[in-house]
Amino acid sequence: MSNEEGKRRAARAAMRFVEPGMIVGVGTGSTVAHFIDALAERRADIEATVSSSEQSTRLLKERGIPVRELNETGELALYVDGADECDPHNCLIKGGGAALTREKIIAAASRQFVCIIDPSKKVGVLGKFPLPVEVIPMARSLVARALVKFGGNPVWRDGVVTDNGNWILDVHGLRIADPLALESEINQIVGVVTVGLFAARRADVVLTGEET
Ligand code: A5P
Repeated sequence: MSNEEGKRRAARAAMRFVEPGMIVGVGTGSTVAHFIDALAERRADIEATVSSSEQSTRLLKERGIPVRELNETGELALYVDGADECDPHNCLIKGGGAALTREKIIAAASRQFVCIIDPSKKVGVLGKFPLPVEVIPMARSLVARALVKFGGNPVWRDGVVTDNGNWILDVHGLRIADPLALESEINQIVGVVTVGLFAARRADVVLTGEET
């Protein structure tokens, strides 16, 4: 099975968590694009969605799927999103598409987080994929110096501005044996908006497209 086919199958498999009348939290990325296509086929069934990025909002609206604000909807029953890496405990690295902050907010606001990935994203230990960290622009080098102390090599994703007007540092060379601890420590650095480690609020269910 190709990675693309894995993404498509995982996205389709997530549809069994979608129930009539739901407001569905929708992540960002190429796997989620398949999920949005599947959701469009059942748009009459659901009440609305809450989107994690301008990119997903555009895809949803193009397919006639209503998009609401999280402040209006309150807690969501379901959030479906992709990931860049997933460890055996369902801890994730996310943010390859720079949407990590809104993704983390919706994950925190949702009772169930279903993660859709192709099988190549399953790893024993997180960190081969560079860890994205969203930072306030004026704090970029301050945060980068602090991240070096964790043994990583932060690289500015030059030219990328997040939906929140911030910048991204991608931290290379980490081996993340304790994602929960590292998430908490990076959260303490002044100038960090969001670290792309999803450990405190990890996925409840991970679908790889290989399920029967
Ligand atoms: C977006 O910022 C990310 O968190 C995505 O969820 C992640 O990069 C997975 O993207 P793909 O589904 O495109 O691989």
